[in-house]
Amino acid sequence: MSTCSLSRRGAEAPASPIRSLAGVAREAARRGITVHSLNIGQPDIATPEAMTQAYRDYHDVVLAYAPSDGFPELRHAIAEWYTSSGSISRPVEGDDVVVTTGGSEALLFAIAAVTDPGDEILVCEPYYTNYAGYAHLLSAEVSPVTLSAHDGFRVHPDKIAEAITGRTRALVLPTPGNPTGTVISADDLARIAAICVQHDIFFICDEVYREFVYDAPPGTRAASLLDQAVADEHAIIIDSVSKRYSACGARMGWLVTRNSEVREAALRFGQARLSPATVDQYATLAALGVPEQWFHEVIAEYQARRNLLVGGLRSIGLDVTMPEGAFYLAIPLPVDDAEAFCAWLVGEFDLDGETVCLAPLSGFYRTEGLGKNEVRMTYVLKQEVLSRCVEILDAALKAWKNR
Ligand SMILES: Cc1ncc(COP(=O)(O)O)c(C=O)c1O
Repeated sequence: MSTCSLSRRGAEAPASPIRSLAGVAREAARRGITVHSLNIGQPDIATPEAMTQAYRDYHDVVLAYAPSDGFPELRHAIAEWYTSSGSISRPVEGDDVVVTTGGSEALLFAIAAVTDPGDEILVCEPYYTNYAGYAHLLSAEVSPVTLSAHDGFRVHPDKIAEAITGRTRALVLPTPGNPTGTVISADDLARIAAICVQHDIFFICDEVYREFVYDAPPGTRAASLLDQAVADEHAIIIDSVSKRYSACGARMGWLVTRNSEVREAALRFGQARLSPATVDQYATLAALGVPEQWFHEVIAEYQARRNLLVGGLRSIGLDVTMPEGAFYLAIPLPVDDAEAFCAWLVGEFDLDGETVCLAPLSGFYRTEGLGKNEVRMTYVLKQEVLSRCVEILDAALKAWKNR
């Protein structure tokens, strides 16, 4: 008998609840049903031409490795981008930046740099579930602060302070949030940063949706932790081109920190995987030059999609909080078991040959039993598709009730 067996780490790795219905959706598509995917954050916005052109322009005869922390010219351009686009008290330097394979690897490196097995990271639930995936890989624990839909999933700094224990090594928090859409105000961000400093824990601030803030003057971005000088040594910023430039497939991201020990650890992790992708770095360099006007148009489009979807869902009687940023809605449905409803919706229901794939929200909570009747929906598709999705959901909820 073979003694080869999977590690507990391998056997117990959590599957992503965001992709849990992918197989059922594929099967529905195979039967000829049009499945509108509102379960994943894959925008249909065209990637900027400057970026796609950079791929076409790449002609080196050898597709070589890049430096483990990224090309210096890209790191400097990223630093310059921060310095010129935020209200930053002290310029960011190229040496503060480590280029990674997506924001995902930046998160993994950041958490790996500051936790040992058994240490805790603090998250605010419902949370971006891949944080639990990285913690699992690193044998770290995830400890949740529970947010409430009743106040728009606001992150209360006091609750974060109360949840910190002797084992907490870092707070991992996105702003704007996924799946909540919550934008943390500059004041709250400063208070949270001060709490992290006071308790001597790291603040891993995930800013991959930084541009996508609505009901704010054009050009206004979410408050960035880099603006909070108080948090310098404790702050690790996570960023990515995936959402900003609608370039999820480029797999380019970075972390920024003024903590040289963290940066050097991230560099050593980076050396073990040799290099971030070479050509995608040139494309990212081109993307950083995309004019501000491109963002104004994209943000206006997401804002219109948000308003349309929230208005549509409210018109069919759903209780929806208006999210301030990113492109997600976390909402309760009038069903007992959202997981069963979502599986039935995509696997068995259709309205004239069309259905919708949603992500059940229970997997976005750490606390057992929460989110049972909630779902996450994205507004990354065209407005006419979103309108149709509301009609399909309305018909599905009625059919589910009358089953
Ligand atoms: C909050 C958050 N952080 C990080 C990521 C990672 O994105 P990527 O690895 O594509 O940069 C995502 C992707 O959806 C996300 O929603």
